[in-house]
Amino acid sequence: MIKEKSFKTDNVEIGETEVLVGLLADEIEKRMGDCALENRDLVLGLATGSTPIPLYAELVRRHQEEGLSFANVVSFNLDEYEGIPAEHPESYRSYMGRHLVDHVDMRKECVFLPNANAGDPEKEGREYEERIREYGGIDFQILGIGRDGHIGFNEPGSGRETRTRRVKLAAETREDAAPAFGGIGNVPTHAMTMGVATILEAKRIVLIARGSGKREIVKKAMTGPVGPEVTASFLQDHADVTWYLDGAAAGE
Ligand code: PGA
Repeated sequence: MIKEKSFKTDNVEIGETEVLVGLLADEIEKRMGDCALENRDLVLGLATGSTPIPLYAELVRRHQEEGLSFANVVSFNLDEYEGIPAEHPESYRSYMGRHLVDHVDMRKECVFLPNANAGDPEKEGREYEERIREYGGIDFQILGIGRDGHIGFNEPGSGRETRTRRVKLAAETREDAAPAFGGIGNVPTHAMTMGVATILEAKRIVLIARGSGKREIVKKAMTGPVGPEVTASFLQDHADVTWYLDGAAAGE
C-alpha cells in the first residue's frame, strides 16, 4: 500500500482514505479561499452516510486548528428521511450538525436540507430547486454511492431527468440503515432527494467510495451502461467528475 501518494488516472484518484481526504479538503479549502477573494459564496452539495465522515472531520480540524473559515459557504444536502423529526439522531439535519455544521462557522441559515416532512412534497421539491438556482447552482458536489448504485436517494429506476422529489427507499438501502435505526422496522420508508438532473447540474462532482462492498457497484457505475438501473452511471456523462476510491473499492 502506498501511503504518501495516490494513484491518478483520468478522473480516478485511488489511495488510502487519509490521503484522499487530504486531497479533497485541499480542493475545498482552495475553492473557499478563491471565493472569499472574489467576495462570493461557495455552494457545496453535501452527502451523508459513513463515507464522507472522515472528510468532514478533516474540515472541522482545519477550522479548529488552522482557522479555516466557512463563513462564505452555503450548503445543500442531497436528501433527508421522511417521517422522523429534524431532532431525531438519524435525521440528516442532525448528522450534518454532529459532523460539520455545529463545529465550524457556517451561517446556519445557509445550511439547506430538503424538508421531507413538508405537507406538499411537490412544492417543497420545486422550492428546493429554486433555492439552489438562486444561489447560482452547486459549485462542488460530494457524493457517496449506495450498494444499489444510488446517488442521493435516486434508487434504481430514477431517470436522468429527475428533480428533487419524494421517493420510496429501496429494500437494500433500508437494510443498510437498519443498524443505525435499531432495526429495519424503524427505518423510514420514504425520503426527499435531489434528482439525477439536479446532481448533474453541479459544476464539479466528486464521488467517494470506500471498502470492498462498493467494488462491484463502482465498476458497474464507471464502466457499465449508462441508465437508471445504476443511477451513479449517469456521472459518466458529466464533464467534471472525479472518483475518489480506496484500494478496496477500486479492486483491480
Ligand atoms: P455509506 O452510504 O456512505 O454509508 O456507504 C453511501 C450512500 O448510500 O450513498
